[in-house]
Order: sequence, then C-alpha cells, then structure tokens
Amino acid sequence: METIKLDISKSGVRLTEEMEARACEANALLYSRKGAGSDFLGWVGLPGSIPGEEIDRILTTARRLREQAEAVICIGIGGSYLGARAITEALGDPFACLRSDKRQTQLLFAGQNLSEDYLGALMEAVADRTLAAIVISKSGTTTEPAVAFRIVKEEIERRYGKKGAAERIVAVTDKSRGVLRTLAANEGYTTFVIPDDVGGRYSVLTPVGLLPLAVAGVDIRELLAGAREMERATSERTPFPENPSAVYAAVRNALYASGKKIEILGSYEPRLHYFAEWWKQLYGESEGKQGRGIFPASVTLTADLHSMGQYIQEGERTLFETIVSVASPDRELRIGADEENLDGLNYLAGKRLSEVNRMAELGVQLAHADGGVPNLRIEIPRVDARSLGALVYFFEKACGISGYLLGVNPFDQPGVEAYKKNMFALLDKPGYEEESRAIRERIG
Ligand code: PA5
Repeated sequence: METIKLDISKSGVRLTEEMEARACEANALLYSRKGAGSDFLGWVGLPGSIPGEEIDRILTTARRLREQAEAVICIGIGGSYLGARAITEALGDPFACLRSDKRQTQLLFAGQNLSEDYLGALMEAVADRTLAAIVISKSGTTTEPAVAFRIVKEEIERRYGKKGAAERIVAVTDKSRGVLRTLAANEGYTTFVIPDDVGGRYSVLTPVGLLPLAVAGVDIRELLAGAREMERATSERTPFPENPSAVYAAVRNALYASGKKIEILGSYEPRLHYFAEWWKQLYGESEGKQGRGIFPASVTLTADLHSMGQYIQEGERTLFETIVSVASPDRELRIGADEENLDGLNYLAGKRLSEVNRMAELGVQLAHADGGVPNLRIEIPRVDARSLGALVYFFEKACGISGYLLGVNPFDQPGVEAYKKNMFALLDKPGYEEESRAIRERIG
C-alpha cells in the first residue's frame, strides 16, 4: 500500500502473536457483522460500493449550487460536519479571502455551534452574495443545525421566495425518518440519503461529506479512489503486518494497556488541523465509554511546540503521539543567502523550507521518544484528495478494530444524550416538563 506508510519503530511496542491474532479477529468481526453495533457497519464496504449514479447526482447537484450561489452554507454538526470541514480546509486555499478578484463559490459552515456572534457574522458576510444551503442531519432533530437552518432558510426564502428557496436548498438526511425528511418533502427540496447502516462519524464518504466537498471543488472521485485503495489494503484477507489499520489499532491498544491513556495526533502541515478535529470525534465518540478509552488530543506543529511542547516532553508520562507526515509539499520555497547574515541563518541558505520542517519533525520525534513519549508515524505522499480518502478510510477501519480490541461498541454514542436532556429542560421544550421542574430545583 503506497498511499499510506505506517512506521511503528519508535512506538516501543513489540507486538505479540496474541495481539496480532486479536486485531485480525476484530477486523474479521467488521465483515462478519457479529460484533457490537453491527447494524452500523455500512461504511466498511462503502468506498467500493457507492453507485456511479449517486456520484453523478452529487456532482450535478454540486454544479447547480455553484452556478446558483456565491456562498453555499453547509449546515451540520459532529459527523455531519467535521469530515467536509477537514477535507476542505486541507485542500482549500488558506488565503482565499485575499483573492477577491475571483468570486468563486465559497463553502461556509453553520450549525456546528449555538453562537449568536458566529451565525450573525456569517449572515452579515453573505448579505451581498447569492445564497444556497445544504442542510445535513441524519436524525433530522439535532438542535444546533436545526436552529441554524431555520435562520438560513428564512433568509433564503426572504430573498428568493418559497419556490426559489426550494431550488437552492438541498437536504441530506435519513431516507424516511426525522423532521428534516418531512420538511424536505413538504418544501420540495432535492434530497440525498444517509444510509441507515452508516453512523454520523463514519459518514464522510456518503453524501454527508461528498456533496459539500464537491461544491468546494474537491475531486470526490479521487477521494473515493484513495479510500478504495485502503479498503483493499485493510481487508479481512490482508495479512496482519501488511494491514496498516490493524497494526495501528493493535499498537495503540498495547500502549493504552501499558498506561498511555492519551494519544496526541500531530502534523507539521497546518492545513491538516481540522483533519485532527475529525479524527478526535471519530476516536473520542467511538471509544470513550464504559469508563474506558484513549483520550484523543491534537497538536498543530511546529506552532504547538511553543505551547504544548514542554508538557509533551516532560509532563505526565501518559501520552503517546501519532504524527501524520506529508512526504512532498505542493509548493517550492527556498531560504535565501544574506550577505550580512545578521539573523545567523546562512547555514540554511539554499534549503527548502520543507527540509527544515522535516528536520524539526525528526528532531522532535527523537526527543519525544527519549522523553518517554512513544511515537507512531503515518506518512502520506502529499495532501491531495486521493491521500485524504485513503487516510479517512485508514482511520475509520482502525477505529472499528480498536474499539473491538478495547471491548466497547465503537458505533454508538449514548453519552452525548446527557447534556441534551438538561438543555431541553432548561429551554422548556415541550415533553420535558418533569425534567424542567427538577433542573430548576437543582440550580435554585
Ligand atoms: O457521530 C455521530 O453520530 C454524531 O456526531 C452525529 O453525527 C452528530 O451528533 C450529528 O447528528 P445528526 O446528523 O443526526 O444531526
């Protein structure tokens, strides 16, 4: 498998035959559908099974939205948001706001918080832009995106009328359940279905991720091609040492068993910052339950060497690190020579910045390993759609295996309901009268 190279030589883990066998068994459970949460394993074969017509429909709809609107607001939270955000941030132009000559369609995100200032600023910013929206919610009932959608929908209807709005709003939701499905049917929106057997955080390769990514101009066929390569490379027939997802899952579980309770995902490419956010949700929501689970944290480097670096080097020895390393940058930038050399940097003259970055990465890896922080390294050739597709599937597969190794159901999230009950009680949602009384007594 060339797209992803996993190096565990600095992890300090010696995998036993028993660990290897357990990881292979866990992988096999994902195919036999005999493990916990087996109703949510649709993602396992997804890259190789998405019908061509579905891709065509996504691309046609994305093209239409791009033609209609300068700003497309993508509304969703958690698994209905983070994948698209991660990949658009990775592949987008970080300085797009300065290239004002191009009025290219911008994909903007809403519904991932309840901040009045965030949504207020977004609505102000799109005041003079033509507008469309994609609303994404599997359950169709999540408060944050529902509230944002009500506000965005109102604005689109104010500008284009009900009929015009119906041509500019696309809903991605369950095939039959939930209020968003009903609303979309009543209003006549174009809709895409989130398969029943794919949970939110495993849904980036469904229309949940693919539609907004296509709007943002990402080559979704390449993304899926990368994911398909990884689907093959991590199949149940792949021998353990050649299956990077099984090896990664086995190593991180061995580290957890030895007291390393926190995994830090890091990258020396700031454009992968949101990829780490997606990864944190995937692993945190999949593994953190029943009083167990590796806590997923992240750093963006080298910036965070100047904030978290001290702790990682010398703080509590409960950490291990996984670095997503990029072999080749897209651009070329060399450091020049300076006659006066007042900054003392002439020893770097002629070098590419990426070479300096790579030496920083290597130096940090060795220092952290010496400081008792085991290191895993995942290398992708470059930050492109194919590599990111492979990386998405690599992490998803590893997460399923890892959750089974840990002994939890990696496909449910019972814990996220607790806050909702309190919030609904505090907001006097109909049906929560009892809880409202109880919570008011509690807070006095
Ligand atoms: O992974 C998950 O299931 C969650 O993070 C959901 O994606 C998130 O809560 C949003 O749910 P929904 O798509 O139903 O609005």
